[in-house]
This record gives sequence, structure tokens and C-alpha cells, in this order.
Amino acid sequence: MKVNNFLYLHLPLLVSAVPTIRIHGNKFFYDNGTQFYIKGVAYQKDTSDLSLGEMYVDPLANEAACKRDIPYLQELHTNLIRVYAIHSSKSHDACMNMLSNAGIYVLADLSSPDESIITSDPSWNTDIYRRYTSVIDSLQKYDNVLGFFAGNEVITNYTNTGAAPYIKAAIRDVKKYMVDKGYRNIPVGYSANDDADTREKSARYFACGNETERADFYGINMYEWCGYSSFKTSGYEERTKEFSDLNIPVFFSEYGCNSIRPRKFTEVEVLFSEQMTDVWAGGIVYMYFEEENKYGLASVKDGKISTLEDFKNLKTRMEGINPTVGSYFTTSKTETTASCPTANKYWQVSPVLPPTPNDELCQCLEKTLSCVASHKLKEKEFGKLFATVCGMVDCSEITSNSSSFGTFSFCSPRQKLSFVMDKYYKSQEEEETACNFNGAASIARVYGQPKTCYQMIYSATATPDEEESDKGYTNLSASLSPVYTNTIYLCVISVTIGILTLCATLA
Ligand SMILES: *[C@@H]1O[C@H](CO)[C@@H](O)[C@H](O)[C@H]1NC(C)=O
Ligand SMILES: *[C@@H]1O[C@H](CO)[C@@H](O)[C@H](O)[C@H]1NC(C)=O
Ligand SMILES: *[C@@H]1O[C@H](CO)[C@@H](O)[C@H](O)[C@H]1NC(C)=O
Ligand SMILES: *[C@@H]1O[C@H](CO)[C@@H](O)[C@H](O)[C@H]1NC(C)=O
Ligand SMILES: *[C@@H]1O[C@H](CO)[C@@H](O)[C@H](O)[C@H]1NC(C)=O
Repeated sequence: MKVNNFLYLHLPLLVSAVPTIRIHGNKFFYDNGTQFYIKGVAYQKDTSDLSLGEMYVDPLANEAACKRDIPYLQELHTNLIRVYAIHSSKSHDACMNMLSNAGIYVLADLSSPDESIITSDPSWNTDIYRRYTSVIDSLQKYDNVLGFFAGNEVITNYTNTGAAPYIKAAIRDVKKYMVDKGYRNIPVGYSANDDADTREKSARYFACGNETERADFYGINMYEWCGYSSFKTSGYEERTKEFSDLNIPVFFSEYGCNSIRPRKFTEVEVLFSEQMTDVWAGGIVYMYFEEENKYGLASVKDGKISTLEDFKNLKTRMEGINPTVGSYFTTSKTETTASCPTANKYWQVSPVLPPTPNDELCQCLEKTLSCVASHKLKEKEFGKLFATVCGMVDCSEITSNSSSFGTFSFCSPRQKLSFVMDKYYKSQEEEETACNFNGAASIARVYGQPKTCYQMIYSATATPDEEESDKGYTNLSASLSPVYTNTIYLCVISVTIGILTLCATLA
């Protein structure tokens, strides 16, 4: 008895309130092996009551709101919330712990309204990389984080499928980031819209390839079932067929058509029935808060919640479901590596992925340039300058499109502008007048950089079949070495110590 007492008193302090979720084949499981279905609710207010200087309200940073709302989420049998944007520098301890105690997991989008991969001009750059990894840094310590979305409805139709490699590169790189940081292996996926032309290819594209670069799960924002519909007439039957052999979990990352209100949520019993549970891992109802778009389950007034008709209906439906719960240990689906979809008119996606954003490389590159964008230059003036400079030199290193990704394309606009200005300047034999652009550029003093800097640039620019030989390194460092100043900087690099760099100035 004493031993039991001891365990009883002390174990809860050591063991977290919820087990982590893992993936096997196309299903989610609790760590103890019991299958997990997503019974989710989207939980993020729109931008209606922002504090000064904020672009969005962080739903995981408001302890009072979490405390107020969690009992309502529990009443709906919610076991997961989706949050669309958090402030990574704020503390999320209070909300995350309360959610954990309520058995509620979190799926968090990594982007924010002003830092995301954009449909019309996709980019996977150091700025977005920093944003994504900062969200991971902030949330990785909580066991009730089920996963992250590396993009939401970035590809919208067949005209912009070229954005796909940028999202997949983001998935690859944040997965690698977690490995490098020694974090828990938190799943990363993508949340797609429901576009008839692209949805199937898109799911297969994100699910294909090896573990290091494929998505761990796939979400689809689904609004096909409106009012009283059926498995057949809604389109769910067709969708289920389409995704039936997907090798990773697929679920509704949003659902709940509201063209007929109040919503009856009759799709719930079908989504969690035998007709769908072998293929779908559940879904996330859009959304908790009633706002202008009329998708709410509850409205907030003076800090108080009142539940709506939709809330009651969803609650009744959730109480009526009883999906078959499988076990990790007996599940028949095995891990498979799927091949990538072939291109067609509606899916024109490069098999190559953009490079990993590397801030260190960009900074080091910048320091090796003899002609740089002037400090006074404003970002809004960059566009015209890029057009001018890129009319005179080849800008492929800093540009990217749907099939070609420049080596330095992930650097900041200022770094990229400096790079091409310098390229032009060097092409003009470093004529002083070639580094001006009406005062937009100025000549920079270049100091020798550590050998690692040149090596980094070299290995980024070397084509795969080129060997990283000392010769190549010498060539490159020669082309980048200081030329403008009258002083020659000789860098003696201590090989033995490896990190000590000694620069002696020769007159
Ligand atoms: C596994 O954990 C879940 C969540 O805590 C629980 O509901 C389930 O009953 C557990 N399964 C087993 C076999 O203990
Ligand atoms: C494709 O999506 C873009 C952006 O969402 C939109 O502007 C455009 O009209 C769409 N094109 C077609 C053919 O649907
Ligand atoms: C995964 O696939 C990529 C691209 O095909 C390849 O470069 C990488 O080496 C592979 N990784 C593993 C662990 O197989
Ligand atoms: C993409 O960029 C590369 C290199 O700059 C260029 O050769 C290619 O034609 C471009 N492709 C498209 C589809 O614009
Ligand atoms: C290095 O420079 C030499 C002479 O200019 C040239 O022949 C050689 O191809 C260069 N090597 C590389 C890797 O660029």
C-alpha cells in the first residue's frame, strides 16, 4: 500500500496529462496504441478585437478566454483545436496546460497573416523560415501538440500549383529543424482547399517521397455537405474513394458548410462511421467563434459565451457517434513510400524542391560584396532597381519560379539586390561609376571572412557533380575576395584550432 500511495502521490507530477499522438500508416494513435480520431474545432477569433499594434489575436495566450471556453469545447466532445496564428514570443503555458488537462490537442498553423507562403508569389525564405521555427520553438515542449500545418490553401487551383514545392520544402526543413534541435518528432502537414482539379494530385504530391521530405498528414478544408445531405449526394463518397489508398492520415482540416443555417451537422455521423473511418481520421469544425461570416458555434459578448443553435446540433451529433477504435499493434496498414504523381495540365509541379533557407549563408554572402544597396534605400524602391539591374546581368541566383530555384533566392530582398548590384559592378571591372544606380548603391569595404564562410558559399553554388575540392574553394574565394580597398587583408586561418581566424593587415 505504501508503494502504491507513493506512486499515486508522485506519478501525476511526472507524467504529462495526455499521451503524445503518433502516426502509423494512414491513422493517428495515442502513444498507448489506441487509435485517435480528430474531433476538432477551429479556435481563433478574427481580427475584430485587436490590441494596438497586433495583426491577430493569439488564441493560446489568453488564459481567461481558454478557461472560459474549454468547458464548452468539452461539452462538444472536442479533443483537438486548430489555431491559425500564434505570437511565438508569448507564453502559452496556461492555455496549453488547461487544454492538456481537458484531453484537448492542438494543431497549429506555422504561418501568420504577414509571414506565409503566398499563392501569387510563393517563396520559402529566411524570413518565413524564422517565423515557422519560432512557432515550433514556442510549442514543441507541449505533449498535446499533435502537429503543425506548413501552409493553408496556398495552392488554390491549377493555375498556381507551382507553389507546391515551396510548401514541401518548408515541410522538409522544419522536420529537419526539429531533428537538429532534438525536439520531439512532431508531425507536419499541409491544409488544402477542396479544388476539383488539383485535390487528388496535391494529396499524393505531399504524401510522396521518403520520410525526410514528405508531409506526415494531409488536411482538406471540406464544405461539400450542406444541410441534410448524404454520403452519396454530398460528394463524400467520391472523395473517400479518391483518398482510399493514401499512405498518410487525411482528415477534414475544416468542415461545416453554412449555406443552410442553422447547421444540422448530419455529416458527423457519416464521417465517424464505417463508410469513412478507414480512410479519414476525423475533422475540425469551422469554427468556435461566431463572427461576420456566420460560422460560429458560440458568440462572445462582454466576455460571456452564449451557445448558438449550431452548438446544440453539433453536440447532439457528437454524442451519437461511436467509431471503431483500432489499435496500433493490430493495424494492417504498413508504412509505405508512395511515388510522386505525374504532371498533367492541372498539376505542373517541379520534382525538385527549393533550397533550405540559410540566414548564415546570406549574411556571409553580403559581407563578401564590394558593391551593396545603400542603407538609405527603402524596400519599396527595390522593385524598380531589380528590374534595372536584372536587365543588365543574369539574376538567376536570386530568383525563383515554379521550376527553378536560385541558390540565394531565399535571402532578404536587400541582400539579393546587393548581390546583383555587386555582380554588375564586377562585370564592369569595378568601375566606380558601375556601383551607383543613381545613389542606390555604394561601394563597401570588404574584410576577409572566415574560411567557413567561403566554403558555405562554395558548396551552395557548386553543382552536384563538382567535387568540393580545395581548388574550387580557392577559385571562388578569389572571385569574392576584397578588391576595392587599397589595403589587402590577408586572413590566416588557423587550421589547428579551427575557429580562430586571424586577419593581419598588410599595408
Ligand atoms: C490510451 O489513452 C487514451 C487517452 O488517454 C485512453 O482513452 C485509452 O483508453 C488508452 N488505451 C489503453 C489501451 O489504455
Ligand atoms: C485561381 O486562384 C487564383 C487565386 O486564388 C484566382 O485569382 C484565380 O481566379 C483562380 N483561377 C481559376 C481559373 O480558377
Ligand atoms: C530522401 O529523398 C531525397 C530526394 O529524393 C534524397 O535526397 C534523400 O537522400 C532521401 N533521404 C533518405 C533518408 O533516403
Ligand atoms: C524559371 O527560371 C529559369 C532560370 O531563371 C528560366 O530558365 C526558366 O525559363 C523559368 N521558367 C519559367 C516557367 O518561367
Ligand atoms: C578554377 O580556375 C581555373 C583557372 O581559372 C579553372 O581552369 C578551373 O576550372 C576553376 N575551377 C573551378 C572548380 O571553378
